[in-house]
Amino acid sequence: MPESRQYNAEYYDAFEWPLDDVKLYSQFTSVDSDVLELGCGTGRVSLPLAKKSKHLTGVEISEPMHNRAQAKCQEKNISFLLEDITSMNLNKKFDLVIAPFRVLQCLEQQELIDGIFNVIHDHLKNTGTAILNVFNPLYSKDEMAEKWIKNEETFCGETILSNGDTLKVWDTRDHLDAKNQVLHPKMIYRRYRNNELVDFHTNPICMRYWYPDQFTQLIEAKGFTITNTWGGYNNEVYGEGPELTVAFEKK
Ligand SMILES: C[S@@+](CC[C@H](N)C(=O)[O-])C[C@H]1O[C@@H](n2cnc3c(N)ncnc32)[C@H](O)[C@@H]1O
Repeated sequence: MPESRQYNAEYYDAFEWPLDDVKLYSQFTSVDSDVLELGCGTGRVSLPLAKKSKHLTGVEISEPMHNRAQAKCQEKNISFLLEDITSMNLNKKFDLVIAPFRVLQCLEQQELIDGIFNVIHDHLKNTGTAILNVFNPLYSKDEMAEKWIKNEETFCGETILSNGDTLKVWDTRDHLDAKNQVLHPKMIYRRYRNNELVDFHTNPICMRYWYPDQFTQLIEAKGFTITNTWGGYNNEVYGEGPELTVAFEKK
């Protein structure tokens, strides 16, 4: 597994992500729906969405994330699988296929992007809906290299863990590939007990970024019809909010 997918599952869950995306995905499921979630992480979306679905299959490549999702799961209508979403074949078709919270952006190379779209095609019913999400880049193509890079660590936040330790997180942004539109931030987690550092964890991330038109053109070029677009989770217009979320179906 590439270094960039070695998440620390406990630390991933320790922060409340500022996302209100479950209600959007919930609109596309019902008690008759078979749902496939690609890159399900620790089950942040899977667990609430399964309550509104017939069955949910959550697929993840990182073993710590997968194990944490399994450990949190009480529901009988969820299956968590350790698979690669760019090459798997479950031999099953679904009513809804989703990849919440920027999963597509973990896939930086063209063959991985081709792979996930083939997987979506092979697992989506002819009547089904797929939904992908990426963030809306803050800066234009010309500005990105100059404005995104930061030379020092930036404090992002802190939280108290269940054992009373304090977890603080910073990020660094010292490298981006402007030609291929890939950011390489690093998340730096430090855990403190009585103000003493007891653990240090670095999570290097790669994020391929997509501009609003590029994202819709990609989906159409893969042979799908776009049925809905959103610019965020608070009724923002596509291209004008912080997120780019697109629903599509087979032609
Ligand atoms: C930003 S997290 C999002 C997790 C979850 N969807 C959520 O909304 O909280 C991206 C997830 O995609 C997973 N992922 C990345 N590439 C993958 C691949 N090729 N196959 C399966 N999972 C992958 C990562 O391990 C990580 O858990």
